[in-house]
Amino acid sequence: MSIRIEEAVDWTGIYAIYEAAFGQRAEAELVRQLQEDGDLILSLMAYDDTPAGHIAFSHLTLHESPQVRCSALAPLAVTPAFQKQGIGSDLVRRGLDKLRADGYDMAVVLGDPNYYARFGFTAQLASQLKTPYDGPYLQALALSEKGKEAHGPVSYARAFSELT
Ligand SMILES: CC(C)(COP(=O)(O)OP(=O)(O)OC[C@H]1O[C@@H](n2cnc3c(N)ncnc32)[C@H](O)[C@@H]1OP(=O)(O)O)[C@@H](O)C(=O)NCCC(=O)NCCS
Repeated sequence: MSIRIEEAVDWTGIYAIYEAAFGQRAEAELVRQLQEDGDLILSLMAYDDTPAGHIAFSHLTLHESPQVRCSALAPLAVTPAFQKQGIGSDLVRRGLDKLRADGYDMAVVLGDPNYYARFGFTAQLASQLKTPYDGPYLQALALSEKGKEAHGPVSYARAFSELT
């Protein structure tokens, strides 16, 4: 299995992964819209001969703590045939490592705490934020000391408001 930064030629694979994992195209359309809008920070693809998984990170705006560089983790999927082999975890960890290396201070995710707790995401840190997704499924991870200062209203990239 290898993980690499997504290239334009991988769009067919990205659509195939999300359709297989979610049974719909909405998440792949979200990735495409994020890219078209210039809001995609990082897009990683996992291959095991064929496309096996994908993760995207996009720009988040913190209105009251703009010194904190923040990213939203979404979407993430692994093709069913490749699930439970550690590919999803590898994609999350590789993505977070890259964000840290690029100077990001925080990552936010909306998802099952049973899955994201293993990477250090907590609902407690996310509760400092005000988002359209507030609640127990919203979790955050500080990637630097500065990340812990994040607070107040957050704006997601425009593409999220079009997600059905
Ligand atoms: C969620 C998903 C990305 C995990 O990828 P993966 O490669 O199977 O995950 P890993 O192999 O790294 O980890 C497997 C672990 O995650 C758990 N897990 C998988 N999906 C989960 C979910 N939706 N909620 C909670 N835990 C989950 C498994 O039970 C397993 O737990 P264990 O390590 O205690 O045995 C993948 O199952 C998937 O694409 N699911 C469909 C789409 C989806 O629900 N995406 C969620 C994005 S928020």
